[in-house]
Amino acid sequence: MLTVSGKVILFGEHAVVYGEPALASAIDRRVYVRVERTAGDAVEVESEALGSRTSFPVDDRQDPSPEEPFRYVRKAVHVAFEHAGDKTGLRISIDSELPVASGLGTSAAVSVATILAVGRLLGKDIDAGTLADLGHRVELEVQGAASPTDTAMAAFGGTRFIQPGEGFEALDASLPLVVGCTGIQRSTKALVDGVRRRREAYPEIVDPVLKAIGEITRKARDCLADGRDLGVLMDINHGLLEALGVGNEKLSELVHAARKAGAGGAKLTGAGGGGCMIAYAPGSQDAVAEAIRACGCRVLKTSGGSEGARVEP
Ligand code: MEV
Repeated sequence: MLTVSGKVILFGEHAVVYGEPALASAIDRRVYVRVERTAGDAVEVESEALGSRTSFPVDDRQDPSPEEPFRYVRKAVHVAFEHAGDKTGLRISIDSELPVASGLGTSAAVSVATILAVGRLLGKDIDAGTLADLGHRVELEVQGAASPTDTAMAAFGGTRFIQPGEGFEALDASLPLVVGCTGIQRSTKALVDGVRRRREAYPEIVDPVLKAIGEITRKARDCLADGRDLGVLMDINHGLLEALGVGNEKLSELVHAARKAGAGGAKLTGAGGGGCMIAYAPGSQDAVAEAIRACGCRVLKTSGGSEGARVEP
């Protein structure tokens, strides 16, 4: 069985789609993918966590529709077949501790775990760098636009400074984080499209916002290296994400509740529009978690830096 961690983006979401850096950390909530060879010429997929089951022919080249719940798995299977230069009937079961469509990287984790599991079954071991690249291809093909952030985090794990086109620098960090989930599902593709449209309409305003988010992310890397506080940078990053149009009322409620309960800073994480937020909460993790729970939301306390893709017996 293959297992892969979810992630939180600490800084830089959306701007990273336009070449700015992102800072992200893998969290100790995982997806699990089990793959068996079957005699037929179909790929059967079932997952209670993703909400249903599906089946498609081994040779299927059709592009899955944007509503299809298993669209990432379908693409990942074909990318793995192509990479291995082989194909077979399969039964795939997927389990997840991550809420779906919540900004915690479920799609990337499922894609990466599926590619690795199918590749291994076909006798092809795939190193983490190749796995990150293949996973990114899946996201690009399904979403149209995607940065390498989520799939790199799924493949490598840890806490990383991601500079698109340059690499995924590992950082040594233990972060006092609280993750709050609004429970509102949303589409990363739709949110990324929304930012693109806003940028096309007002390039002279939106480009400086994206550049400022990039500067915040670079500054945050320096602060992390020197053990300096990240809270204010998080608050500014949240404001700029609101300016890009990816905020949401419940996210704002959680961000303000976290700050009031003593968090150093808080922001939405991932694509926004619902999904999750994070709070940087040195010395106040318990109080912040309680405040988010009091808003009726699921909470996770984490220090980040979890392991990426791994094989489990
Ligand atoms: C989604 O987790 C992060 C975004 O920046 C999209 C991407 O990086 O591909 C919104």
